Amino acid sequence: EGFLPFEHEPYFAFGDAAVAQQQQEAYRKVREQYVGRQFPLILDGHRIEGDDTFEVRNPADTREVVWRFPKATPAQLEQAIAAARVAFEEWRFSDPFQRATIFKRAAELMRARRMEFNAVMGLENGKNWFEADGEVAECVDHFEVFAREAMRWAQGKPVYPMPDEHVTTVYEPIGVVAVISPWNFPAAIPLGMALGAIAAGNTVVWKPASETPLSSYLMVELLFEAGLPRGVIQFLTGTDDVLGDPLVDHKDIRMIAFTGSKEIGCRIMERAAKVQPGQRWLKRVMAEMGGKDPTVVCADGDIDAAASGIVQAAFGYAGQKCSACSRVIAEESIYDELLAKVVKLAGELKVGLPEHNAALGPVIHSGSAERIMGYVEAGKQTARLVLGGERADSGEAQGGYVQPTIFADVDPKDPLFQEEIFGPVLAFTPARDWQHAIELANDSEYGLTAAFYSRDPRKIEEARRKIHVGNLYINRKCTGALSGTHAFGGYGMSGTNAKVGGPDYLFWFLQTKTVAQKY
Ligand code: SER
Repeated sequence: EGFLPFEHEPYFAFGDAAVAQQQQEAYRKVREQYVGRQFPLILDGHRIEGDDTFEVRNPADTREVVWRFPKATPAQLEQAIAAARVAFEEWRFSDPFQRATIFKRAAELMRARRMEFNAVMGLENGKNWFEADGEVAECVDHFEVFAREAMRWAQGKPVYPMPDEHVTTVYEPIGVVAVISPWNFPAAIPLGMALGAIAAGNTVVWKPASETPLSSYLMVELLFEAGLPRGVIQFLTGTDDVLGDPLVDHKDIRMIAFTGSKEIGCRIMERAAKVQPGQRWLKRVMAEMGGKDPTVVCADGDIDAAASGIVQAAFGYAGQKCSACSRVIAEESIYDELLAKVVKLAGELKVGLPEHNAALGPVIHSGSAERIMGYVEAGKQTARLVLGGERADSGEAQGGYVQPTIFADVDPKDPLFQEEIFGPVLAFTPARDWQHAIELANDSEYGLTAAFYSRDPRKIEEARRKIHVGNLYINRKCTGALSGTHAFGGYGMSGTNAKVGGPDYLFWFLQTKTVAQKY
């Protein structure tokens, strides 16, 4: 369509000693520059320090406080929303080409700082180098993709013509968008939602997860450096009693873009439905929630490829992804063979510090580890434990380390098969045949990602039609969607199917105007 060619940002080759050394050096610099500091809120472009702050701790060793952020006050929330409203009156009429130029510039700035962002993220949420790099590269892709999308949607769409009227269909921005984001992808997820909003001409009130504010803060600063007018994003950190319900409920918020748990997503949907006094629209809600993502392996599939894809998708970032593989459904005839291969590979994963690029790091909190262990202890009574099942030893470090854990022969009614655990816990269930395997894959309230391994075109064709998910991957793992290519978002209780990085994503942030003119 005449847009610039696009290539996904390549990953760093950390196997190369020189590249690994650069990443270590980036950690050293981040520790020197940022650790121990207190960061501000950003209100109408001003950096606002606060006396009342909260600590961000390194999940790899929770004795370490890495940085502090302010707890925004109710008055600051009011100021932020008011400033975003004022900024909207100008930004809504900004040239989409200007928006695209800012995003292209931001992509350049980000490319030069990828290792720094990797290190910040590692210290906030415990991602190892590979996982952080995947996410930071996705941010560069988001900038490039949204630059193109801003221009594409600005063109409007053709209509069926009338002889005596000139008719156009154009897309206009909607207002102030609240962006509420999780700790597991603290850079790419809020960035996707925020860029969607601002590429469309809206302004943003951005509330990052309290576990991971610096990854988001640095992104906002980078956007300003790239030329984004300073009122376009308001950045507020703090507690849910001030920034949760009051932000969602506010009459001047036009839309809530949320990614996180099913529980909070449902709460937002319900609260946003209520029209507040003085509110002049129905709020729009984008709520991207959880997953209980299956990998189906047919008897004719490539068992080695499946085993490796399963281990990466189940245990990468300790399984703390909505896209993580948490169920394996395999045909009986290859079930034992596949299970043995997966157990062997997962058993080789070394638990350790993300900063040292260990394969398996901590989960986000010790409370989270306890919640995961609750599922594991219950699973020991109802299924066959074949790997792990205990807290992991991480030497000196104090954090929520959990062994890679696999249960076999899990009943489809068991919580291990039905509930999102958000940890390194994988359930294996046998299927009578491949059709039964597809039925079991669909036996879930969620429908985010799935992987399907087979070499038979007939089975693949049926899987394509019948597996009820937003992201279906054939003969590859179910994590790692790429912006611009694998539009990401699910079915069922996985959420509103917004499909970030996809061709229709910007429509979420727009309204459509038809203008018919008589000559
Ligand atoms: N987009 C990520 C993935 O595909 C999850 O949020 O793994």
